[in-house]
Amino acid sequence: MAAAEAEPATTSMSIRAVPDAKSADEATQVVRGNWLEAIEKHHRQHSGGSMVRDILDIGCSVGISTGYLANTFPSAKVTGLDLSPYFLSVAQFNERKRSQRTAPIQWIHANGEDTGLPSKSFDLASISLMPSSKVLQNLSPVLFTLLKSTEPHLDEYYLTDLEGTLREAGFVNVTEVLTDSRHRTVTASVPH
Ligand SMILES: C[S@@+](CC[C@H](N)C(=O)[O-])C[C@H]1O[C@@H](n2cnc3c(N)ncnc32)[C@H](O)[C@@H]1O
Repeated sequence: MAAAEAEPATTSMSIRAVPDAKSADEATQVVRGNWLEAIEKHHRQHSGGSMVRDILDIGCSVGISTGYLANTFPSAKVTGLDLSPYFLSVAQFNERKRSQRTAPIQWIHANGEDTGLPSKSFDLASISLMPSSKVLQNLSPVLFTLLKSTEPHLDEYYLTDLEGTLREAGFVNVTEVLTDSRHRTVTASVPH
C-alpha cells in the first residue's frame, strides 16, 4: 500500500512546497529542478571538471529521484538503493514501463548506512527527501503519524545534524541551499 502511495505523496509534497504553481507537474518540476540545479552547481564549482560516471541514489524509494538523476546525467551508470524491497519492486516496474534507457538503472536492496558496495565507486551519491525540514518538524502529531504511513524512518531524519555529520565524516565544501519553501539541499564533496 505504502509503495502505491509513494508517488502521489511525492506530488502532493511538491504542490505544498510550491503553492503558486499552476499545476502539479509545474510544482514537481520546480522542486526537482531546483534540487538538481544545486547538485549541478556544486559539481561545476568543486569537481575540477571531472565527469559524473557513476551515481548512487540512497533511499531511492519508488525510483522518482533516481529517474531524475538518470535524465540529468544521461551518460552515467545509475544505481538506486533502498531498505524497502516493496519500493524497489515498484521502482523497477515503473522504470521498465516508462523508460528506454540504453544503460538501465540498477536497483539494490540494502541499508544506506552499510551498503556493502566498494568504497570510492561513485562520483555522485544523493539522498533526497530524507533530511530534516523545519516545516515538517512543526507538523501536528496527527499529520506526522499520517506521513509515517509512507515514510517509516521520519524520526531518524529529524534527529540528524546532516551538515555536522558530513563534516565529521571528512566531506568538504558543505553547502546548504534553500531550494523551495519547504526543502533545503545540502551538497558536499570528498576531498581530492
Ligand atoms: C521519502 S523516501 C525518498 C524518496 C526519494 N529519494 C525521492 O526523492 O523521491 C525515503 C526512502 O528512504 C528509505 N530509507 C530510509 N532509511 C534508509 C536506509 N538506512 N537505507 C536505505 N534506505 C533507507 C525508505 O525506505 C524510503 O524509501
